[in-house]
Amino acid sequence: MLNLARFERYPLTFGPTPIEFLPRLTEHLGGDVEIYAKREDCNSGLAMGGNKLRKLEYIVPDAIASGADTLVSIGGVQSNHTRLVAAVAAKIGMKCHVIQESWVPHDDAVYDRVGNILMTRLMGAHSQLVDEGFDVGIRDSWLNALKEIEAKGGKPYPIPAGASVHKYGGLGYVGFAEEVRAQEAELGFKFDYVVVCTVTGSTHAGMIVGFADDGRARQVIGIDGSFTPRQVRAQVLDIAQKTSALVDGPEIAGEDVILMEDYAYPAYGVPSRETVEAMRIAARTEAMITDPVYEGKSIQGLIDLVKKGFFPKKSKVLYAHLGGVPAINGYSYTFRNG
Ligand SMILES: Cc1ncc(COP(=O)(O)O)c(C=O)c1O
Repeated sequence: MLNLARFERYPLTFGPTPIEFLPRLTEHLGGDVEIYAKREDCNSGLAMGGNKLRKLEYIVPDAIASGADTLVSIGGVQSNHTRLVAAVAAKIGMKCHVIQESWVPHDDAVYDRVGNILMTRLMGAHSQLVDEGFDVGIRDSWLNALKEIEAKGGKPYPIPAGASVHKYGGLGYVGFAEEVRAQEAELGFKFDYVVVCTVTGSTHAGMIVGFADDGRARQVIGIDGSFTPRQVRAQVLDIAQKTSALVDGPEIAGEDVILMEDYAYPAYGVPSRETVEAMRIAARTEAMITDPVYEGKSIQGLIDLVKKGFFPKKSKVLYAHLGGVPAINGYSYTFRNG
């Protein structure tokens, strides 16, 4: 039994997220593998929700206890994470400063005006655009923002990209696995695989720890969305090992990190023709909207793996829909004809 309950959790979500069967997508893919979705994209009333809120539930108590007055974080221009840090700051009555780097080589005319960044600004965060490329590690721009706030007499609380390399960043998705186990008991069956998009790593890492508790770590199939899979794989392993130590979980080995590297091309944040086609399939069979940066790539991976016969016949596959739909507004040209 994992020792998650000893960590304080500040509720930001509605509670357990629904699991739904996707019959038309299942049928579209031949019917041999049953596809279900766990709707993390519908997890909260805070700024349209998403996976970051599960992570932030375990980080907020530490932020409040630190006496901070400003949450400071970092992401790309259309970062879901910075939107949700801005949301949490508004909700708990703190200020918010987010660095938004040019992680995506994408030129839609209103890319820096709509979707996530629009909501981030609307919620009162100071959104600082910085001309630096993609990197999931610790960035100078973010360290500089922390120093500047301190120099002005503020008390910043640092939250790294994706809330991932934060000491408590992996806990939320340990909780996800425990929630799935409880839902499986009600459903009367177990999922054979969980498919998840992986970029900064703590969603996947938390799931590895949570599912390792009943021997299923390697049933978690990460779909790389970063296009820097070596760095991401190492980051997932590091977070999983540290998170497992926090909850008195089992040893996590490199082989426990299953990461599919074939779908992130041509770059982080840039959808391939196959990504766009997979997004159309999910939208046209199930009205399940995915984004071109994250879930578009993981749904592409799921569809391709089913078609390739990766999942044995009769497998039940749980697709973790982690949110991210607001970014689609920055890709209006790509979808101008549907
Ligand atoms: C919608 C969405 N899906 C997937 C991910 C990947 O999660 P993680 O960064 O924890 O690997 C993110 C954030 O990076 C996201 O915003």
